[in-house]
Amino acid sequence: MSDKILVVDDKQMMRDSVGSTLQRGGYQVVAAGSGDAALGLLARHRPAVVLTDLKMPEMDGLELLTRLRTADENVPVLIMTAYGTVDTAVEAMKEGAFDFLQKPFEGDQLLLAVRRAVEHRRLLQENVALRGSEPQRTGAPMLVGRSDPMRQLAQQIQQIAHSQGTVMISGESGTGKEVVARTIHAHSPRRDAVLMFLNCAALSSSLLESELFGHERGAFTGADVLRKGRFELSDGGTILLDEISEIEPPLQAKLLRVLQEQQFERVGSSMTIQVDVRVIATTNRDLVECVADGSFREDLYYRLNVLPLHLPPLRDRIEDVPLLAEHFLSQVSLREQRDAPVFDGEALELLMGYHWPGNLRELGNICERASVLTRGGVIRASIVQPWLAARPDPSAEGDAAGAARPIARLEDVEREQILRTLDTFNGNRQRTAEALGICVRTLGLKLKKWKQSNLVAQTV
Ligand SMILES: Nc1ncnc2c1ncn2[C@@H]1O[C@H](COP(=O)(O)OP(=O)(O)OP(=O)(O)O)[C@@H](O)[C@H]1O
Ligand SMILES: [Mg+2]
Repeated sequence: MSDKILVVDDKQMMRDSVGSTLQRGGYQVVAAGSGDAALGLLARHRPAVVLTDLKMPEMDGLELLTRLRTADENVPVLIMTAYGTVDTAVEAMKEGAFDFLQKPFEGDQLLLAVRRAVEHRRLLQENVALRGSEPQRTGAPMLVGRSDPMRQLAQQIQQIAHSQGTVMISGESGTGKEVVARTIHAHSPRRDAVLMFLNCAALSSSLLESELFGHERGAFTGADVLRKGRFELSDGGTILLDEISEIEPPLQAKLLRVLQEQQFERVGSSMTIQVDVRVIATTNRDLVECVADGSFREDLYYRLNVLPLHLPPLRDRIEDVPLLAEHFLSQVSLREQRDAPVFDGEALELLMGYHWPGNLRELGNICERASVLTRGGVIRASIVQPWLAARPDPSAEGDAAGAARPIARLEDVEREQILRTLDTFNGNRQRTAEALGICVRTLGLKLKKWKQSNLVAQTV
C-alpha cells in the first residue's frame, strides 16, 4: 500500500502541481486548502507525511506544525517556503519540522525530501534504545538492537554526542547511517538548535554549491534573489552531509575551509560569513579508496574523520534480526491501525540465515510486504522464502544446487548424463549424440568401453 501524503497550501495551483508530482512518485495524495482543513483530515487519513506551505491566511504552517505535534506527534512535517520566509522555516525546523523545501523546487527534490520523511517516520514509533531511559524528545529516532556491535555503538554515540568534533559515519547502504546521525544530534547539546540535512548526491555540483553556501542576487543566471545556504541556516546547530564522497573536488576545497575555519562566502559574494556548525558526514563508499584513486582530497578526509563511526552490516549483527523484525512489523501495524503479525520460528530462522545485502532497509521492506500479505496472525516461512531466494549469497560456496550435489569425477558425470539422455530418446544413439553435441561414433566407443568395465548394463 502506498504512503499517503497530506498537502496543505492555500493556493489550488500549488496543491495540484505538488499533488501530481507526488502521485507520479507513487504516493497517495490528500489535499487541504487550510490548516484547519488539514487537521480535520488527519484522523481519517493518517498521512505518513504532512507537506505544508508556511505562509497561509488564518493558520500558518508554523501553527499547524505545533497543532499537528499535539494531534500526532510522529508525523514528519515538511515545510515549503518562499523567498523571505527561510528564517521562519529554520525556526520551524527547531520546532521539529523534518525539513524544508525552498520554492521553486524541482520534482526530484520534492520526491527525495518526501521519501526521506516517509523513511524517517518508520523510526519514530518505537522505544528501544540507547542506554538509559532518558526521555526522548519528539523527533529523536530510536535505535533498535541489543547485539554487541549495537551496544558498543550506543556507547560511542553517547560519547560522540557530547563532543563538538566532526563525525564521519560509514557503512553499507541501509545500515542506519542517517538514523545514527539524527540520534547524535538529538543527544547533543545542540539538540534544541536546528539539524539541517543535505544529500550531496542528489544535486549537481553548481546547485550543491549554492545550496551549501548560498548565493548573492545576480550571482548567476536565474539567481534572482539572495539565498542563504544550509551552512548559514544551521548556525548554532548541526548539518548532516549525506553521501559526502559525491562532492566534486572544487567544492571539496571550499568545504575544507568551512571545516577548518567555520568560514565561507556565498556564491558571488566576497563577504566572509562566520558560523558555528557541527558537521556530521555519511558515506557508503570507502573514502580511503576514494583518496587513493584521487577522487577525494586527503586533507578533507582527515578533517572529516575526526570521530569515525562504522556501522556493521546486518549480517554481522544477525542476532538483532528478531527484535528488528518485531520493530518493523509493529510500525506497519501502528500505521495501519491493526494488530501486528509475528514471524513463526521457521520464518525467523530463514531471516537469520540470510545475508541481507540491503541491510536494515531490506529487512524493513520484507516485514512490510509480509505484513500486508498476512493481514494479522502468523507469517510463515513459505511467505518470505521466495524473496530471500531471489538474492542468493554470492560469497557462499557454490549455489544452492551445487551445494546439494557432492563433488563427482568428471567421467562419472559424463556417463550419467549420457545414460540419462539415452533414456530420454529410448536408446536411440543417433538422437542422443545429436542432443549431446558429439558424433555417434564417439558415443559408441564410450559405451563399448563402459560395458567392458561393467560400468553400464550390457543391454545399453
Ligand atoms: N538500529 C535501527 N533501529 C531501527 N531502525 C533502523 C535502525 N537502523 C536503520 N533503521 C531503519 O532502516 C532504514 C535504513 O536506515 P538509514 O536510512 O539510516 O540507512 P543509511 O545507512 O543512511 O542508508 P543509505 O546509505 O542507503 O542512505 C530506515 O528505514 C531506518 O529507519
Ligand atoms: Mg542515508
